[in-house]
Amino acid sequence: MKIFLDTANLDELRAAAALGIVDGVTTNPSLIAKEGRSNVEQIRAICEIVDGDISAEVVSTEAEEMIREGHELAAIHPNVVVKCPLIPEGIKATKALSSQGIRVNVTLCFSAAQALLAAKAGAYIVSPFMGRLDDIASEGTELIREIVTIYENYDFPTQVLAASIRGPMHVKDVALAGSHIATMPAKIFHQLFKHPLTDIGLEQFLADYRKTLAEVAVG
Ligand code: E4P
Repeated sequence: MKIFLDTANLDELRAAAALGIVDGVTTNPSLIAKEGRSNVEQIRAICEIVDGDISAEVVSTEAEEMIREGHELAAIHPNVVVKCPLIPEGIKATKALSSQGIRVNVTLCFSAAQALLAAKAGAYIVSPFMGRLDDIASEGTELIREIVTIYENYDFPTQVLAASIRGPMHVKDVALAGSHIATMPAKIFHQLFKHPLTDIGLEQFLADYRKTLAEVAVG
């Protein structure tokens, strides 16, 4: 499963990307707004930090304008994937952009039926928002499992990107459900490393190593 970071913050991206296992980045208008720069400027800067798919979202609600925006975003860098919302106009724009060779991430997906529409429009990625479903007491992981099954049933090449992830358990759950990608805030990415037994084990190994060194030195 690919790991994407769900942030537009350059410091967070630099720190996480330095570990060498970040495959891409997702942004949305809310994440970009936190950084105080234009979408185009921020996406360009992100592309210089992470070498992988970088999702940048359109803000229009009409297909023609989404297509125009999509071309503008795709021109920023070859790694840009254009995000379109899962509304009829967004699906129309996805079909057009995909036919023109521009990769589209269809976002704001909350049902397997919606995901089917995204795949039929030629989406490169579909983004089911599992955390926001869990927030309203619905099963986010089950949605990922259903979409993966439908795509496998019909050999759709669209990748499932589990979005709106709220914690390390979500990451494990979507990996088990067969998600192709999981996008997460930097904080959750760093939490994935944590296990108390790793820390205790390492402390013990290093203490024993130091003890052996001291014994050898004494002779
Ligand atoms: C990513 O593509 C989504 O925009 C993001 O994961 C949404 O997350 P949120 O529900 O925490 O805002």
